[in-house]
Order: sequence, then C-alpha cells, then structure tokens
Amino acid sequence: MKFLVIMGSPRLDQNTAELCKPFMEEVKASGSEVTYITLADKKIAPCKGCWACQNVSGEYGCPQKDDMYPIVEEIIRADCIVLATPIYTWYCTAEMKAMLDRYYGLNKFYGSAQGSLWKGKIIAIIATHGYTQEYAVQPFELGIKRLCEHSGLIYAGLYSVRDEHDLASFQTPEAMDGARAFARFLLEMEPLGIVPYI
Ligand SMILES: Cc1cc2nc3c(=O)[nH]c(=O)nc-3n(C[C@H](O)[C@H](O)[C@H](O)COP(=O)(O)O)c2cc1C
Repeated sequence: MKFLVIMGSPRLDQNTAELCKPFMEEVKASGSEVTYITLADKKIAPCKGCWACQNVSGEYGCPQKDDMYPIVEEIIRADCIVLATPIYTWYCTAEMKAMLDRYYGLNKFYGSAQGSLWKGKIIAIIATHGYTQEYAVQPFELGIKRLCEHSGLIYAGLYSVRDEHDLASFQTPEAMDGARAFARFLLEMEPLGIVPYI
C-alpha cells in the first residue's frame, strides 16, 4: 500500500503535524511507502469553475498550472490518501478546501472527457479540534463521505484527537497509540480497482 498524507494546517509543526508522526512511523515500520505533503507552503489557487478539465481526457487537465499538479501525481500514485487537517469553522482549513475543490479534473463527469483518474482509492481523515470529536468533526467527515460516494472512492474512517493542552495533547501515549492503531487498520485494507495515470 502506498500512502499519501496531505497535511492542511497552516502550522507546519504543531498539533496536526504532530499527530501525523506516529501514524507515518507505523506505516513505514510495516514496510509500506508514505509520502507527506504540506499545503501551507504550496501555491494552490481556488478552482475557477471553468469546467475546462471536463474536456481533457486521460489527464488532470486543469488550466491553472500551480502546485496542484505534483499533488495530483502523488494522488494518482497512492492507494490510500489521508486528509490531515485541523478543524477550522467546522470544516477543514482553507488550504485543504482549495486543494479539495481542485479534485474536479480527477473526475470526468460533465464534459466530453469520460472516466476517473482516482476511482477506487481509499480516503481517510486525521483531524485535530478544540471541541469534542462528534461536535467538531462531523460536518467535515460528512462532506468527505459525500465526496467519496460521488467520486467512487472508498471512505475508510477517521482518527482525531481533541486539542486540550496544545501540542502536549498530541504527544500522550494514548494519542500516539491511537494514530498507530489507525495506521494498522488502514494497512489491512486492500485497494480495489486502482486506475492508472494515462
Ligand atoms: C481559525 C480557527 C478556527 C477553528 N475552528 C474550530 C472549530 O470550528 N471547531 C473546533 O473544534 N476547533 C476549532 N479550532 C481549533 C483547532 O482545530 C485546534 O486547535 C487544532 O488542533 C489546531 O491544529 P494545528 O496546531 O495543526 O494548527 C479552530 C482554530 C482556529 C485557529
């Protein structure tokens, strides 16, 4: 299994990044590959809604040639894509939302082009938040579940930890063991039909 962790916090070394560490250590310990991408240091413009990608077959096809292109290559290479984000205003951060909206070119549903460049991939969430998990994360999780239904992706689930004592909340044995257990759970999932990049 190839893992891609996309980390959407503007803070590159704080709560969400800290929670990703034991998760990725566990993936690597199993012999699997993991690529880690942070969004705050990338230039990803919002989707313009031009629909141009819908008429480009077999490739991403977005006219905005920014840092989304290398991320799309990593998405296509991965079996499991982990969306790691702090909850901001009951959803993901703006950095992650811009990236998510740019998924359009991976689905060719609305123009002359046909098919999907990422159907069958596994999607999981790692989140950090100030409120309780259910109250804080539910809207984002629902949005991602709907994205998976719409795009033929496999939603694998969520691991999250509440921010009660800043960074220390994510360095407890319980928080770190939970991240490792989530990695082991995902490692047991078999990718279904992985669509090659053409
Ligand atoms: C602008 C902003 C909005 C936030 N909105 C929420 C929210 O809606 N619900 C919540 O539970 N926590 C919210 N939080 C708390 C963060 O999700 C939490 O502190 C998180 O662990 C920060 O992660 P980071 O250190 O990776 O940036 C918000 C924090 C900020 C700065």
